[in-house]
Amino acid sequence: MTRFALSATLVALMSTAAVAEDVAPSDVAYDDYGAIAQSLTGVAGDPAEGLRVMETRSAGNCVACHQVSVSTAAFQGNVGPSLDGVADRWDVDQLRGLVANAKMVFPDTVMPSFYRVSGYIRPGDAFTGKAAGELSPLLTAQQIEDVVAYLQTLSE
Ligand code: HEC
Repeated sequence: MTRFALSATLVALMSTAAVAEDVAPSDVAYDDYGAIAQSLTGVAGDPAEGLRVMETRSAGNCVACHQVSVSTAAFQGNVGPSLDGVADRWDVDQLRGLVANAKMVFPDTVMPSFYRVSGYIRPGDAFTGKAAGELSPLLTAQQIEDVVAYLQTLSE
């Protein structure tokens, strides 16, 4: 193998490793105000995919509680505030913290924590005394980054 081919292979291997290094829900570092300063994936979020997650009932379903005027999703809710202009109210780190676990900012909120797996009363515990197995977060690390990327486009 030539030296060039070898280093190209190494670079490819290193970037594959970086993609696999998502921050696990239990390892997320929140600051005192509930913000997360570091990307959960190291991969830039895709705003178009973020909007899809927000409008999809089986994914984020944010529009069930929040109005987003530019979204064409039917039946947008008003349990939470409109997200129009949300990027003017919160910076990227704060938005990431809000989507991952809004309870850090609003302790009593009805908004689900989308990247959290601990601190719940787990189904099954009451009957068997055993844990019900590993819970998965509601959204993946990359879906959180995608949603945050979309929210950053919502300025007025
Ligand atoms: C069950 C309803 C519900 C769902 C679903 C929900 N939220 Fe919320 N959200 C709220 C409520 C209520 C608040 C206001 C905080 C409070 O409880 O006082 C809020 C607050 C926020 C805020 C702060 C808004 C501001 O202007 O201050 C952001 C950002 C946000 N939500 C984003 C999202 C995103 C993104 C999703 C989907 C991934 C989502 N929410 C899903 C109920 C919801």
